[in-house]
Amino acid sequence: MELGRRAALGILGGGLTAAFLGGPRPRSEPGLVEVAFDAATRPARILGRRVPMWLYGGRFPGPLLAMREGETLRLRFTNRLPDPTNLHFHGMHVPPTGRADNIYLQIPPGERFTYEFTAGPGTAGTYWYHPHCHELVARQMWFGLSGPIVVRGPLDAMPELAAADDRLVVLRDVAMAGEALADFAIDDWYEGKEGPHLLVNGAFEPEWRMRAGTARLRLINTCNARHLRLRLSDRRPLFLIALDGPFLERPVAVEEILLAPAQRAEVLVRFEDGRPVELRAFHYNRGVPTPRLENRFLLRMIPPAGARPLPLPDRLATIPRLDPAGARVRRRLVLSMFLIDGRRYRYERVDIRARLGETELWRVRNLGTMDHPFHLHTWPFQIHRRDGRAPPFRAWRDTVHLRPGEEVELLVPFRNFAGRTLYHCHIAEHADRGMMGTIEVVPETGALPPPPPPICFAPRAGAAPRRP
Ligand code: C2O
Ligand code: CU
Ligand code: CU
Repeated sequence: MELGRRAALGILGGGLTAAFLGGPRPRSEPGLVEVAFDAATRPARILGRRVPMWLYGGRFPGPLLAMREGETLRLRFTNRLPDPTNLHFHGMHVPPTGRADNIYLQIPPGERFTYEFTAGPGTAGTYWYHPHCHELVARQMWFGLSGPIVVRGPLDAMPELAAADDRLVVLRDVAMAGEALADFAIDDWYEGKEGPHLLVNGAFEPEWRMRAGTARLRLINTCNARHLRLRLSDRRPLFLIALDGPFLERPVAVEEILLAPAQRAEVLVRFEDGRPVELRAFHYNRGVPTPRLENRFLLRMIPPAGARPLPLPDRLATIPRLDPAGARVRRRLVLSMFLIDGRRYRYERVDIRARLGETELWRVRNLGTMDHPFHLHTWPFQIHRRDGRAPPFRAWRDTVHLRPGEEVELLVPFRNFAGRTLYHCHIAEHADRGMMGTIEVVPETGALPPPPPPICFAPRAGAAPRRP
């Protein structure tokens, strides 16, 4: 099935225009999606002001990367920033090596690079991309560099989903300092940088005229540090259909969602009574002072007159039950302030060596005094237990949120791709300060590719987007 321009545009929310996609997706070969954009210093309209930012393709958030399961994305990327950068495809189950999700690549200012990877079967879902040059990530993300990825697959064609109004809800907080985004202060490197205004696809408190009686919202928390407690204004249920990446087994009705940085959730919202409904964010205490949100609401949805909600799907994906008895390798990971297992990230050190084809059980404990969202690249995992209890439903996750004192047990199958990559706290400032480790997954036979050359860029003191 062809995802043409119209269908691709159908998932764009308010504030994202046709130009956002850069017109129809060019296809030089079947199964190949070709996209080109740059990262550059450009102005964006934020809260009515023209603000210099660092942007992908001149857009905030960056251009949507839309592909189908089985398709290959070829992305020609040009770095027009004053600093080195690169791209990470957060949550995508693709190789951590070569031209794919290889965070060891560095693209110096003025250079280009072509990324290429294929979305595997069963990966339909919502992901995002952002830079991953160590010590530069928090600044580059804060000043505007991130964008959404949507992978579609056969399940999206079921009538209960296909007829829904499918929208991206890219969430990002901002803090202003006059005609610019507020720069970093010393405390931000401890707490993680937050702002008092929460934008939806770059817009403040947008109102959307919905096109169907059911909305499918693809929520992405692209904040550096802000944790989002989301609810609908009349407390009607949100029907969760996906978390982080692939579909759940069936919709799960919840009143509230907590989205830690980097996490995603897809929800169905049913407009039963024809009345507008607002998505709201509530204060969340993550163990540090968090600036209060100035928003009255995040997003108002106005249902079409006379529209009836669609029936809920009763089956979605099948998620295998992973057997903890089969996990021969068990590890403990301890999170504390800026450290994992008492150590700060070092490029040369491999912290975890795992074997391709094995499933491991990781016991991750937060001994810090603030929340830390723990993220593993490349290999999605399942939460086996949280504080000793099994979660109410199965899901493939890439980021798990831990409150102070909490412990989660994760079952991590190392499948399909060998290579070296990272796990880290997804408060961007914590990762930049070294709350990160290196994992190398070794194939059963044959040798790993040689380790990538050493990299580590110290941020330029005070660097921020400059008005041209
Ligand atoms: Cu959003 Cu290392 O990741
Ligand atoms: Cu990631
Ligand atoms: Cu952290």
